[in-house]
Amino acid sequence: MRSFIYHVAWLSYVAHWVSALNFTIAGGQIFTPGFAVLDAPQPGTPLGGDTIEVALDVSANGKLNLPPYASNSPSLIHNITIFLYSYDTGRNFTITNGTASTNDVSLGDIMKSEPGSTVKHVKWHWPDCLIGDGKPTTLDSDRGFYNISIRQNFRLNGVDHYTIFDVPISVTNRIDFTGNNPPCDSVNNPLLTPEEINADVANTVGILFAPGDATIVQQTQPSSSNDGDGLGPTKPEASPSDGLGSGTSSVERNIIFLILPFLAVGCVFTF
Ligand SMILES: *[C@@H]1O[C@H](CO)[C@@H](O)[C@H](O)[C@H]1NC(C)=O
Ligand SMILES: *[C@@H]1O[C@H](CO)[C@@H](O)[C@H](O)[C@H]1NC(C)=O
Ligand SMILES: *[C@@H]1O[C@H](CO)[C@@H](O)[C@H](O)[C@H]1NC(C)=O
Ligand SMILES: *[C@@H]1O[C@H](CO)[C@@H](O)[C@H](O)[C@H]1NC(C)=O
Ligand SMILES: *[C@@H]1O[C@H](CO)[C@@H](O)[C@H](O)[C@H]1NC(C)=O
Repeated sequence: MRSFIYHVAWLSYVAHWVSALNFTIAGGQIFTPGFAVLDAPQPGTPLGGDTIEVALDVSANGKLNLPPYASNSPSLIHNITIFLYSYDTGRNFTITNGTASTNDVSLGDIMKSEPGSTVKHVKWHWPDCLIGDGKPTTLDSDRGFYNISIRQNFRLNGVDHYTIFDVPISVTNRIDFTGNNPPCDSVNNPLLTPEEINADVANTVGILFAPGDATIVQQTQPSSSNDGDGLGPTKPEASPSDGLGSGTSSVERNIIFLILPFLAVGCVFTF
């Protein structure tokens, strides 16, 4: 039996998912505010293994052609960057910022990977501080809840957008040392507050391309004569007084309250 705080962390853990699930899912795919459609992972998945793998269809299931785009095309993807961050641990790792670093410590432009394939399988070796097995057992652990943050820079019908799509996952499955684990500090970025990021404003374009959506995509195919390549913040660490769920809102607390009797049964098996 572990400490009470650990139970609070676990309840908050579940509450994160209960309160954050607002995804547009059809046929096992998750639609985003952009051309990317997420094939995997599903929100809330516990992850581990040698690499974190993110599978994205970058053509909105065939509605946008693959690069190279004509630079004057009304619709194209400028770039997609992906980060792995957590307000619980204060970490914000670069999975890809478009520029490959030495030894793929962070990955290069995913649009140029797997040419000819509309689905890009982004595989990134877990950074070394996430090595371990199971839920975090100490408050200074870097394991636990994360968001895979998919940032899309794209143009849709002549209008440029930069959107933010966060997929909650938990780093709770076993991660072994592989010899290719980037040092955490080498891929870490400052963590911004939700207010600084202001995803609601960034995402006013809304979820696109979900079945039933009537978005018309205008685009120009590249031709040989047109060969444009188209192509301080504080670190809010968990503290002993608030457990891992330091960002837990009152709504989440209410949810915890509501699901507590239900969880009591689960805890018997979990702890
Ligand atoms: C979830 O989606 C619904 C339907 O679009 C919307 O009304 C609601 O505000 C969303 N909730 C959150 C937390 O984003
Ligand atoms: C994940 O993102 C949501 C909003 O997109 C945020 O409310 C939540 O705190 C984030 N989770 C973690 C572990 O940082
Ligand atoms: C992504 O595209 C935008 C818009 O063209 C550009 O401003 C930004 O520098 C690009 N970022 C990367 C990492 O290539
Ligand atoms: C991309 O990320 C790597 C690793 O964090 C960093 O060294 C590099 O400066 C970043 N490049 C850009 C353009 O942000
Ligand atoms: C993580 O770092 C990237 C690159 O600096 C930044 O664009 C992004 O907003 C950061 N994410 C959070 C949640 O602070």
